Amino acid sequence: PLSPQFLTVTPEARPHVALVQLNRPKELNALHYNLMLEIAQALEELCANPAVRVIVLTGSERVFAAGADIKFMSERTAVEMLEIDQISLWERIRKTHKPLVAAVSGFALGGGCELSMVCDMVVASETAQFGQPEIRLGIMPGGGGTQRLTRAVGKARAMEMVLTGQPISAQEAADYGLVNRVAPVGQYLEEAYRLAAAIARMSPVAARLAKEAVNRSFETHLDEGLNFERKNFYLTFASEDQKEGMAAFLEKRLPEFKGR
Ligand code: HXC
Repeated sequence: PLSPQFLTVTPEARPHVALVQLNRPKELNALHYNLMLEIAQALEELCANPAVRVIVLTGSERVFAAGADIKFMSERTAVEMLEIDQISLWERIRKTHKPLVAAVSGFALGGGCELSMVCDMVVASETAQFGQPEIRLGIMPGGGGTQRLTRAVGKARAMEMVLTGQPISAQEAADYGLVNRVAPVGQYLEEAYRLAAAIARMSPVAARLAKEAVNRSFETHLDEGLNFERKNFYLTFASEDQKEGMAAFLEKRLPEFKGR
């Protein structure tokens, strides 16, 4: 196992819940290539760890992530950016098949906002700010900010955010459907753990198939999506967890899911 330089990874932060914490404080968790690579590798390792059912991704109270590393990018040519192709790491993060909860406090800007949107759910602290300020640097979003943001908040709001660079508050993000809930600064991480723990009590097999099906809705038309959903639904009946879940209901007890 690697020991990451810019991340703290705790596989059992809570029962069945792992924590990945961005830890590059001096640069406000600016998403340097190596940091992105470490995130991708950490998530892949946690996906391969059967003790882990849900992953929480967080930064610090001050900053989730202030975006891609501007100092690094300032000297690059287009061809260098293409060769480095940092954004392809997004694809690895997106393939995380375990539920991923972002716990966001402070700045989530540019690539930081995009990182929160690759996660399946977002718990924000009251101080969280979500924005795509790239336009102010003479560039534009490149990690999903024109696509995921638009799907999450709608065209008018996404256009305004992307074209003015003006961030939105945690409460606005909640009203727009970009985040699941807002908690006081002292409690947002606990709130994210609570959400993660609720999911960790479910069948990991069913959770994986359900996550896949929800994500499919962004990729395909309704008929195809419903077909995909139906197949995954039938597939849950191949699991011991389905037998356990239904037996527990009928016996009026809590189920104990094993991920098989
Ligand atoms: C490199 C960064 C940085 C970044 C902050 N820093 N953001 N370094 N890349 N994205 C550095 C600052 O240069 C400074 O270094 C230190 O972190 C503290 O930042 P300050 O600006 O002094 O802090 P503050 O006044 O509190 O302002 C915080 C802030 C501001 C609002 C977050 O730093 C800011 O606007 N940052 C840039 C946000 C941004 O434009 N992000 C989009 C990047 S483009 P020193 O050495 O002076 O102490 C992008 C493209 C994504 O994300 C494409 C997909 C990968």
